[in-house]
This record gives sequence, structure tokens and C-alpha cells, in this order.
Amino acid sequence: MHEFIDKAVETHNLTKDELVFLLNSNKQIAKDLLKAADEVRKRFVGDEVHLRGLIEFSNICKNNCLYCGIRKDNRNATRYRMQPDEIIFLAEQAKKYGFKTIVMQSGEDLFFTTERMCYIISNIKKLDMAITLSIGEKSFEEYQAYKEAGADRYLLRIETTDKELYHRLDPGMSWENRKRCLEDLAVLGYEVGSGSMVGLPNQTISSIADDILFFKEMNIDMAGIGPFIPHKDTPLANATGRAFALSLKTMALTRLLLPDINIPATTAMEALDPNGRIIALQSGANVIMPNVTGCEYKKFYELYPGKTDINDTPLHCKTDIGIKINAIGRTIGKGYGNRGDFLKNVSNL
Ligand code: 5AD
Repeated sequence: MHEFIDKAVETHNLTKDELVFLLNSNKQIAKDLLKAADEVRKRFVGDEVHLRGLIEFSNICKNNCLYCGIRKDNRNATRYRMQPDEIIFLAEQAKKYGFKTIVMQSGEDLFFTTERMCYIISNIKKLDMAITLSIGEKSFEEYQAYKEAGADRYLLRIETTDKELYHRLDPGMSWENRKRCLEDLAVLGYEVGSGSMVGLPNQTISSIADDILFFKEMNIDMAGIGPFIPHKDTPLANATGRAFALSLKTMALTRLLLPDINIPATTAMEALDPNGRIIALQSGANVIMPNVTGCEYKKFYELYPGKTDINDTPLHCKTDIGIKINAIGRTIGKGYGNRGDFLKNVSNL
């Protein structure tokens, strides 16, 4: 085992140079790195894989991120927006399938005012489910209103910590504001998830090391890391992307430095390798978000091409992944799967 991997396993700290070295490492060192992340995952968060039912409720977006298939200027995207009661209905279905957490994700769609969001959140809360939101940049007051209505967690990827690259890829947006959002969410008591894309055009290894250090500095509770996959209807159609191995290394290093957080095996991993999410689960990840959006819509929620399960029903998504999880000797999480609920479960015994 390389000395830097040993150091990370023991201290959960690496310098930027050490991170860069391991991100650049050859196949043998990379193999040891993924194995070490798997062991640290087992030691800190156990063998349970937490499932979160993902509802992609609108692909209408006011932003124009160069990499994203649902960017405002993509005229080829078929747009849809679920009605509030439709979203609540899908959450009820997800509850019947056994999901304990709902993740509500959408483009930044202005139809969903604070009032409408709070209506949806408070109704889903009645189902006794944990609620995660992933709906972009909002004001402190809006985040506060969602929290009071019953939201528990929030996902907002920083995308990249290279500010120049961020501003080039996300025109009209501000990196500082995105960071402000993550800080506000933490102050409000959300469990905060962030994350990044790996393999963006002109992204350096050094900035990927910074991304990992950023997650640590911000003390985030969850990190979603996935490869950038070019979408044909975007300005980055001809970019390379698809950096599967580098994404895995980034994820594994994040596990080593933040040993007790939640790390999803992202759908983008599966889009590049038919076994991508299982490989991720064996390289540091402990969460999977099966899609419960429903077949009529989910093919249109195309951030990137190659989503594997677009024709599967929600129940099939869950059963299929459950079988695969058991096949690698892991179990499906029984609780909500956040730290607070872990403690609650103990007191219930
Ligand atoms: N490839 C991979 N991931 C993407 N995302 C958006 N577009 C792409 C793409 N082309 C990711 C972003 C966003 C998340 C919801 O999806 O990181 O935060």
C-alpha cells in the first residue's frame, strides 16, 4: 500500500500535493486506493446501502449551464412540469415501495414558488418520510421556509471549485453565491450534500484536489461525485468527458478524507459502465438513488445521455438494485440513513 494511502486511512488528512499524486496514480495504486476507501466505508458507515427515491419533477430551468442537457437554451429538450399533487402522489407510491427518503429534484423552475414548495413538502412530510431537496440556489428565507415545512436535507453540488471554470460553464451564475447557499443551508440545520463533476473541459487535477479539500473544509454531510458526460444538444457536445476511473478515484479519496459522510453511487457512473454503481459501492459509496419519477417523464430529464433505467418502473428500479446490493454482500438500509436517525434507531432498541 502506498504511504499516502496509509496516511489517509489513519489520519483522514492529505495535503493537496498528496491528493494530486493519488489522483494521477497508476492502475495498481488506484486499485489499492479504491480498496482502502471500501474498507474505510465499512468501518465508519457499515454495510448498509441507503436507498433514496428520486423524483425529477420538472426539467424547466432558468439557467444555461454549458454542460447540462436541460439548460434553458436547449430547444430540443421536451419540457415537462409535474403538478404539486402529482409529486405528492409519487411520494406516496415510493413510500409503498419501502422508500424512507424522497429526493425531489428539478431544474430552477420559477413555477415552484415558496408557497407551492411548502405545500408539497408539508404534504409529503405527513407520510413520515425524510425529505431531500435538490432545486438549486435560493435565498436564506426560502431555505428557511422549506425547512419549517419539513425538509431535512438539501443537495447542491458546487460542480467545481475552480471559480474561473465555474463562471465559464455556468454563465450568469456566481460561485460565491453557490457557496453562500451551502453555508445558509448548514446554518439552518439541513444535512447538506454537495459534490462535483469530474472530467470537465479544462478542469485540472489540481482543482479536483481542491474540490475534495472544499468538501472537508465545508464539513458537508454528503458528496455526490460523477463523471461529466457530454450531451449532444449542448455547447460541450464535442468535449471528451466520460472520466470514469478518475471519478472513482475522486470519490474514493473523498471517502478517505471524510470517512463518515454519505456518498452516493451516482447514476452518471452507471451511464458509463453497466456495473458502474456497484463498482462505486465497492469503492467508498454507501447510497443509491433509484428513480421513482415514472416512465412518462424520466426520459425527458436528460442532464446527460445514457441513463440506464429510463424504461423501468420504480418498483423494478428498486428490486433490481436490491438484488445487486445483496449479491455483493451488502444490505439495504432500514432507517432514514442520516446520522440523526442512526442515533434515534439506537434509542429505539
Ligand atoms: N454530465 C454529468 N453530470 C451532469 N450534471 C449536469 N449535467 C451533467 C452532465 N452533462 C450534474 C450536475 C448537477 C447534477 C444534478 O447533475 O453536477 O448538479
